Amino acid sequence: MAFNNLDTLYRQVIMDHYKNPRNKGALDEGSLTINMNNPTCGDRIQLTLKVEDGNVSDAKFDGEGCSISMSSASMMTQAIKGKSLEEAIKLSSIFSDMMLGKEYDEDIDLGDIEALQGVAKFPARIKCATLAWKAMEKGIREDEQ
Ligand code: FES
Repeated sequence: MAFNNLDTLYRQVIMDHYKNPRNKGALDEGSLTINMNNPTCGDRIQLTLKVEDGNVSDAKFDGEGCSISMSSASMMTQAIKGKSLEEAIKLSSIFSDMMLGKEYDEDIDLGDIEALQGVAKFPARIKCATLAWKAMEKGIREDEQ
């Protein structure tokens, strides 16, 4: 596929998640709740996670922000549902490498997340893309303590 077509496809995937967010809302009280914001712009996310038997059995997010931060949150919740905590952290580390333009394990199927790889070319937007992922990692790490 030519580069331009791929860019267009990625843009469509991002806008689809922005306009039709997956897993929007909040889980019941008693779920892990993490609030995080991007101080430079004020965008904010509230992430709720249900952890059962070492797996993320459910995940939802709420918040306000740009198309990149909100679509990334939507993709992240979609990606980690049903995964073990370890797998969720690993995905986060792969995503972080992708944002930093580093090599990452391409054998892992990232699904829609791949659409965000172009963000690496725009350093100012990397914080937008990683906001939800940082919230997820923070929640899991605090839960493990
Ligand atoms: Fe605030 Fe993107 S502009 S997170």
